[in-house]
Amino acid sequence: MRRSRILSGMRPTGRLHLGNYAGALSNWVSLQEKYECFFMIADWHALTDRTDTKQIKQNIRDVLIDWLCAGLDPEKSCIFVQSHIPEHAELHLILSMITPLGWLERCPTYKEKLASGEENNYGLLGYPVLMTSDILIYKADRVPVGEDQLAHLEICREIARRFNFLYGKVFPEPQPLLSKATKILGLDGRKMSKSYDNYIALSDEPKLIEKKVRRMFTDPEKVYAGDPGHPEKCNVYTYHEVFGKPLGEDVEKIFEECKSGKLGCVPCKKKLSSVLIEVLSPFRKKRRELERDAGELEKILQEGREKARQVASATLREVKDAMQMSFS
Ligand code: TYM
Repeated sequence: MRRSRILSGMRPTGRLHLGNYAGALSNWVSLQEKYECFFMIADWHALTDRTDTKQIKQNIRDVLIDWLCAGLDPEKSCIFVQSHIPEHAELHLILSMITPLGWLERCPTYKEKLASGEENNYGLLGYPVLMTSDILIYKADRVPVGEDQLAHLEICREIARRFNFLYGKVFPEPQPLLSKATKILGLDGRKMSKSYDNYIALSDEPKLIEKKVRRMFTDPEKVYAGDPGHPEKCNVYTYHEVFGKPLGEDVEKIFEECKSGKLGCVPCKKKLSSVLIEVLSPFRKKRRELERDAGELEKILQEGREKARQVASATLREVKDAMQMSFS
């Protein structure tokens, strides 16, 4: 029996941020030990909200570097670029024929994009179908993602079920694997995201981290340093829990001292800056080494491409056999 399989991906929209790390990447690193893992840089998905493609190649390198800095290991996991594997596009086309429009039109992320004024194109509507083909072409059992991707996974399971019903069982129905921190909020209290410019990047320098942390929204009811705070509602406290606790920080003490008014927001943020600078310091060091080694990056993606392609083309053959559409 094969080990359970995992597939997940990230769009190459620039350097990764703490949300990507805590919501997905840190989980991926530990999953490598137990599962057969496929991690993909989803460059086609990055086209849904931009027509300017000049930065994409550099962004792919940046994502790969961030992944390696965080501990993804090409010896353990297959790391590749979506557009290197044309089988994803072929399966996407096949699956689009059995996906009712209503499923896609109801998808909350699609509705949000339209509400925010984004152009309504097919790529946006079909986003979950392409994601489904990314997952099903590797017959993944589990998909480690943050909370914002759950609606897409629901559609993925529906499409898998529909295909299996129509043509016979080819695909598993993949389940999500959430990490403890499923939604990291940004500096302004909205979801941390590149598009809101409210993020802390994994590669930010210490001075910039300090500056960004100073900008973070805190408990609005704590106006003066000595006022009693509400750490359970404060994003800065959540960061202490997510990033400080694993380093051994005494977060219970921070909670109590904030609540009693003993700890003001300025020193609390100073503590947080030191935590984040410490968490991210190995990233910065490793990034400097990897940036100098373009050959090594190319090699990793080439090896990933070969392995992913083998699996993807075998699944596509099975799909065509099930549909009685294969020609030898
Ligand atoms: P993307 O690039 O938007 O995000 C990558 C991963 O980071 C998580 N994430 C967050 N988690 C917690 N808090 C946040 N503020 C935060 N921001 C981002 C996301 O949940 C995600 O896990 N559609 C995917 C890419 C993709 C994919 C796939 C994923 C393409 N094909 C197949 C899984 C399987 C995306 O846009 O991720």
